[in-house]
Amino acid sequence: MNQPITAKINNKGHFEIGGCDCVDIASEFGTPLYVLCEVSVRGKCREYRTAFKDRYPNSLVIYASKALCNISLLKIIQDEGLGVDVSSFGELYTAKKAGVDLANVYMHGNNKPKKELEDAIDLNVGAIVVDNFAELETIGEITSKSKKQVKILFRVNPGIEAHTHEFVQTGQTDSKFGIAKEDILKAVSFALKLEYVDFAGLHAHIGSQIFDIDPFLAEIDVLTLLAKEINNQLGFKVREINIGGGLGIDYSGSDNVPAIDSFAGKIISHFKEKCAEASIGEPKLILEPGRSIVGVAGITLYTVGSVKDIPGIRKYVSVDGGMSDNPRPILYGAKYEALIANKASMQKEEKVTIVGRFCESGDKLLIDYELQKAEKGDILAVLCTGAYNYSMASNYNRVTRPAMALANNGSVKLIIKRESYEDLVRCDVF
Ligand code: LLP
Repeated sequence: MNQPITAKINNKGHFEIGGCDCVDIASEFGTPLYVLCEVSVRGKCREYRTAFKDRYPNSLVIYASKALCNISLLKIIQDEGLGVDVSSFGELYTAKKAGVDLANVYMHGNNKPKKELEDAIDLNVGAIVVDNFAELETIGEITSKSKKQVKILFRVNPGIEAHTHEFVQTGQTDSKFGIAKEDILKAVSFALKLEYVDFAGLHAHIGSQIFDIDPFLAEIDVLTLLAKEINNQLGFKVREINIGGGLGIDYSGSDNVPAIDSFAGKIISHFKEKCAEASIGEPKLILEPGRSIVGVAGITLYTVGSVKDIPGIRKYVSVDGGMSDNPRPILYGAKYEALIANKASMQKEEKVTIVGRFCESGDKLLIDYELQKAEKGDILAVLCTGAYNYSMASNYNRVTRPAMALANNGSVKLIIKRESYEDLVRCDVF
């Protein structure tokens, strides 16, 4: 099972992370509850930073905050020396509140609202990754009015198909994201004419939950070749190449995921080789991992309610959360692993289907999964829920979003409050 680095079974036979017994955490903060292991998050940040910086000093790892975004987490990210990728002003606002150095914040989005662009420029965001010509035009208008300079990169659609779920593929030609590589020169010439726009380089993101390194190498080929064309035809030297995020994690315990260090080794040797071939010097290499930084660090704790056995057919174990705190199984058919935290030392002995509390038959977290004997009141821990769970959570059925706690070194603190009923009606007008 893939679990936080501090995970263990303690002398009570309970599952523990960050030196804290998950059964105690659940009774202190209630369930459902997201729990994040600080050592795991910091460990991944360091792995990325050293793997890239040691091999290529002119590199910057920026955390894709769409995976999980809150002030305490972004403080840790800043503390570990990573930049931050934001995909909305809301994420940028959170980064600012966390004290992130905004010079290292890159703003994404295929249809950024004008107001968000204005606010981001006003805040001196580090860079805007421009997705299309209309956006470039808007940025031109905003900056000529405000006379504020902004650094931009262009998001290139590299025409590369990464092998992953079709919903999280983004680099193929038929995609809403980015400017076709054939149109990049035109976009750059346009940008170079805009007085307050500082064109710095190129970006691409080919998709998410990717295990195969080859599509990343193909992406580097496209970006370095385009940088060469920009240099040769427009006499402009590209300063930054951002290869996006996308490295996958092992959710099921059997996925063959490259280690960060070997990923970095292959990426950088290919990048250096291609930059030399294209004679483009040594541009800054940026990457934007999200899932691979927080995914394994997070778990979700639930309380088991009813257990329904349909003889000869299936045993359903219901928990007090489900598709609203983890929509990934119903959206992508995502697979997870789980255990009963208060029976962690016991054998897994029965196949069950773990379902949520929501009014939807598809609200299943794990299907036909081998688990310790589940009984009412047990605390279930679902693993690897750190990425794209809280950030995609909803209030379906008007259920409040869970709290999140951070566990480290034997102590645990709340980093996101559980929503209240009052929060649910806060925006209702009557
Ligand atoms: N950069 C850009 C421009 C992105 O769009 C994304 C993710 C990332 C970086 C980070 O990718 P990561 O390293 O986390 O794979 N909701 C889906 C994932 C959507 C990813 C969207 N973009 C899921 O739950 O699997």
